[in-house]
Amino acid sequence: MYHKFDVVIVGAGGAGLMAAMQLPNASVAVLTKVYPTRSHTGAAQGGVAAALGNQEEDHWKWHMYDTVKGGDYLVDQPAAEILARDAIDAIYELEHRGLPFNRTADGRIDQRRFGGHTRNFGEGPVRRACYAADRTGHMLLQTMYQSAVKNQVRFFNEFLVLDLLMSEGRACGVVAMEIRTGEIHTFHAKAILFATGGYGRAWRVTSNAFACMGDGMSLAYRRGIPLQDMEMYQFHPTGLYKVGVLLSEAARGEGGKLLNGKGEYFMERYMPTLKDLAPRDIVSRCIIQEIKDGNGVDGKDYVYLDVRHLGAQTIAEKLPDITDFARNYLGVEPITEPVPIQPTAHYAMGGIPTDTDARVVIDGNWTPLIGFYAAGEVASVSVHGANRLGTNSLVDLIVFGRRAGKDIARFIAQSDHAPLPDKPDSTARELVERMLSSNGGESAAHVRNELQGEMLDNVFVERTERGLRHALDTIDGLQESYKRVQLQDKSKLFNTELVETLELGFLLDCAEATIHGALVRQESRGAHFRLDYPKRDDVNWLKHTLVYKGEKAHDVRLDYKDVILIDDPVFKPKERKY
Ligand code: FUM
Repeated sequence: MYHKFDVVIVGAGGAGLMAAMQLPNASVAVLTKVYPTRSHTGAAQGGVAAALGNQEEDHWKWHMYDTVKGGDYLVDQPAAEILARDAIDAIYELEHRGLPFNRTADGRIDQRRFGGHTRNFGEGPVRRACYAADRTGHMLLQTMYQSAVKNQVRFFNEFLVLDLLMSEGRACGVVAMEIRTGEIHTFHAKAILFATGGYGRAWRVTSNAFACMGDGMSLAYRRGIPLQDMEMYQFHPTGLYKVGVLLSEAARGEGGKLLNGKGEYFMERYMPTLKDLAPRDIVSRCIIQEIKDGNGVDGKDYVYLDVRHLGAQTIAEKLPDITDFARNYLGVEPITEPVPIQPTAHYAMGGIPTDTDARVVIDGNWTPLIGFYAAGEVASVSVHGANRLGTNSLVDLIVFGRRAGKDIARFIAQSDHAPLPDKPDSTARELVERMLSSNGGESAAHVRNELQGEMLDNVFVERTERGLRHALDTIDGLQESYKRVQLQDKSKLFNTELVETLELGFLLDCAEATIHGALVRQESRGAHFRLDYPKRDDVNWLKHTLVYKGEKAHDVRLDYKDVILIDDPVFKPKERKY
């Protein structure tokens, strides 16, 4: 089936919806493989940062400083300035659209502490995270979806995008499978925005929803677009033990503490100023160190998050969802018991490289791919550098989703549709047919299980050359196995096995790019910690990595792009304590 729109947006989370809202006079299709309110934005818990100064003095420049420093200076600084400045307006836009933020006694948006957010360039913690209990992302998503429905945005729910179309050097559409019928649809558009989120499902322990399979990153990568800084993957310190489900940093923002098996609040020892609210990469490493030192609970691979001292009322009012998660998944009562936690795969700082208007760029010289945009976790703009601060993901969605929408509005007013290539749906059809007809005997569940285990063993909080080489060999083998995957369900209607197997191909691509980036970057920076290169190396590595797909896992091409710094001594890279 053929469809023609001015704009196709892939993904109905915060970035996609924010972009759609900027296009009231265009024909816009939003394609989503889940129902829109199931998008992973809804899982964001603790808050959305903006220097409103409602609780204490704050400035966008302090927010920018924390973002740059938290990102261990791999941040493009003009992008961080836009993030911190525009966050303030974007929050008020959400408020005016109806987002039910918690309030101060005098009726303003309340703000709480979060890791790495400080006053006066690092002096001490500041209350910067605007929040709606511990369901901020859920409220944001519901608010945006209602706005989109009111504004007649056209949704194509449960459509899995399988290809990005290009012709005459421009992006010109996508091909998608309607999950309900198995039918293949071609969408022809002047501009395409990918807002498809991340790929946390590549790890066995993850806070990410089942939908976070790296679709957008992989589809771009397969079409020759590089992936940037994929080695920079964040592990959130407090995932529920074994399950991975997020226990918001807001718990520590409200005063919760990490406790080891000996009953010590150990973060005081490592980071005497920021303690439990140090940046996530540091806290995750401290937890791993405690476990290695034999201070895990009962000598095992977990420690505790302790919120008992906050009292039942604060817990019920400010942290209702995460306490329910602890009760439901682990049978632990947080009001009276500490909760077992471990670092969990959480967020991709890397992704499809873009400029600050969300236009995709395809090389180290910032060459744009006309008509193609990316925003949110799928993109690397790069405001998060080597480590994202908590609550900056929602800011990224709304700030750069909005900028994407505005630039697309400008672009489509001046452009026609580029022609579609011949047989535009042939690649997608062949992919699906190959999968449905394969008799190779390999099981997708087995490939996925091996991938997730390898990533957890060797591409986690601490990395080594040996481990990464092992991971690369494993991925190489799994890609071969993937070609032989045989489905049990050969039908077309709502074939979830087919969907999951197609998604597994996306995950393998993302894992491959991550491992290559991690192998080549012989330094430690932010979330990328190499035991064999424990120091940051600005002389050789203050640059973005770009990975281009090759034929096999070992064959990628690597390139580099300068990090953009500004001429202000405050933002000059400084040593960071690990
Ligand atoms: O801990 C949290 O609530 C997560 C927030 C985030 O990743 O920004």
